[in-house]
Amino acid sequence: MKITHKKQKTIIKPKKRQAMDGRILKRQKGQKGLYIATFGCQMNEYDSKRMEELLYPQYVRVDTPKDADLILINTCSIREKAEHKVYSLAGRFRKLKEKRPELIIGIGGCVAQQEGERLLKRLPYLDIVFGSHGIYRLSDTLNRIERGEGPFVLTDMGDEFKMPPIATPLPVPHPVKAFVTIMQGCDNFCTYCVVPYVRGREVSRPKEEIIEEVKRLVEAGAKDITLIGQNVNSYGIKGSSSRGSGAKSAFNTTFPELLREVAGIKGIKRLRFTTSHPKDFTDEIIEVMAEGLPHCNHLHLPVQSGSNHILKLMNRRYTRERYLKIIEEVKRRIPDVSITTDIIVGFPQETENDFNDTISLLKNVQYDQIFAFKYSPRPFTKALQFDGQIDEEVKSARLSTLLEVQREIGLKRFKRFEGRVVEVLVESQNPAREGELIARTTNNLVVNITASNDLIGRLINVFIEEASYHSMRGRALTP
Ligand code: 5AD
Ligand code: SF4
Repeated sequence: MKITHKKQKTIIKPKKRQAMDGRILKRQKGQKGLYIATFGCQMNEYDSKRMEELLYPQYVRVDTPKDADLILINTCSIREKAEHKVYSLAGRFRKLKEKRPELIIGIGGCVAQQEGERLLKRLPYLDIVFGSHGIYRLSDTLNRIERGEGPFVLTDMGDEFKMPPIATPLPVPHPVKAFVTIMQGCDNFCTYCVVPYVRGREVSRPKEEIIEEVKRLVEAGAKDITLIGQNVNSYGIKGSSSRGSGAKSAFNTTFPELLREVAGIKGIKRLRFTTSHPKDFTDEIIEVMAEGLPHCNHLHLPVQSGSNHILKLMNRRYTRERYLKIIEEVKRRIPDVSITTDIIVGFPQETENDFNDTISLLKNVQYDQIFAFKYSPRPFTKALQFDGQIDEEVKSARLSTLLEVQREIGLKRFKRFEGRVVEVLVESQNPAREGELIARTTNNLVVNITASNDLIGRLINVFIEEASYHSMRGRALTP
């Protein structure tokens, strides 16, 4: 299914800046240019935004590497393919450095954490290598590099939640959509996943900081807030005080309570969260969604496989039956809910029967969208050592079959909107098509409309004229 390719593509290509969101800052005299290439998930997008904010006003973000005094690549290592792309991009920047030796180049994120010193050996022209915990030492380290010191490797990982407040907020309105991190790291150790090794132990962010940040974003113009973390459902279980006191804070807020509290902040039009883990997904979360989170009838609940045998090997700690029970309850309580998921095909020892269990689960759940991946062996992980690794051709064939099945399901799901009037939040101009705006339904599905820019940030009704299996086209009904 195309959506999957879209996601894979997003992971591989550095994300284009939303040039249409009104956030382009004019560079003033004396300010340096910062170019950030971001790969990977929303956590990385969030981290890149954080870097931009932390380095402002000394650095202002620019849209092309050639205008930059500092280039940062924020990397993803969830699958091997994503990792390879980082090296080819870094190679391109090397040429710029040869022409302008004063240019500072850094690699951050998961590949940086995973490779550390090895990255410096492989790419000796780098000035700085930093993991996700190193972001908050960037500013000081850059000052030292400018004084001629370095190169530096910042890959220490503490078990504190480190996120200093932003000293100087960017003097521009915030885009309609905003992500807010509520926890870092992951303790689940799914046997295929590199995240616990490159993002460290799970630690929740103090509630007060989250509320403060959401309020700041809403005041700056954000209307659609997504709370993010690797496993948001276990929010509050392991916390730490921020700002470096080192003391563990007693957490007395659960995820549903946090949701309720954030939902109460004035000005939020949409509240979403990702990623959920089925093993920690409780009825209370469904309850909060059902009782009216600001228009949130979308749930992304990664299943990974429909086979109990594979789920066990993956260390997912739920069964197919438990997963389906959650879905049943979600559908019962939340009208017209959209459910999306992540799936891995070709995990070691996956038989045709196991794979067919995944297909049958897809048919049973009727997902609006799926993000499907071929299993990719990752360093440090248990599954790397498992017997029964699957041939690439078998993985590819299974992926195509899966996508074919989902294509039909997805199309049917999207078609349900044709001829209906739905409320959408208008997000931005469509950078791919002039004169077109991107809007989103409460279910988190994209609707393209042709209308005036004045509608950005507004909730409007649209008539859905046509639906394909990954987006819709609508006509704005004059508010
Ligand atoms: N191979 C393939 N897919 C993976 N994912 C995580 N690790 C791997 C891997 N080693 C997928 C999972 C996860 C999503 C973010 O990426 O489906 O939910
Ligand atoms: Fe990886 Fe599993 Fe943690 Fe998700 S829950 S980040 S898949 S280890």
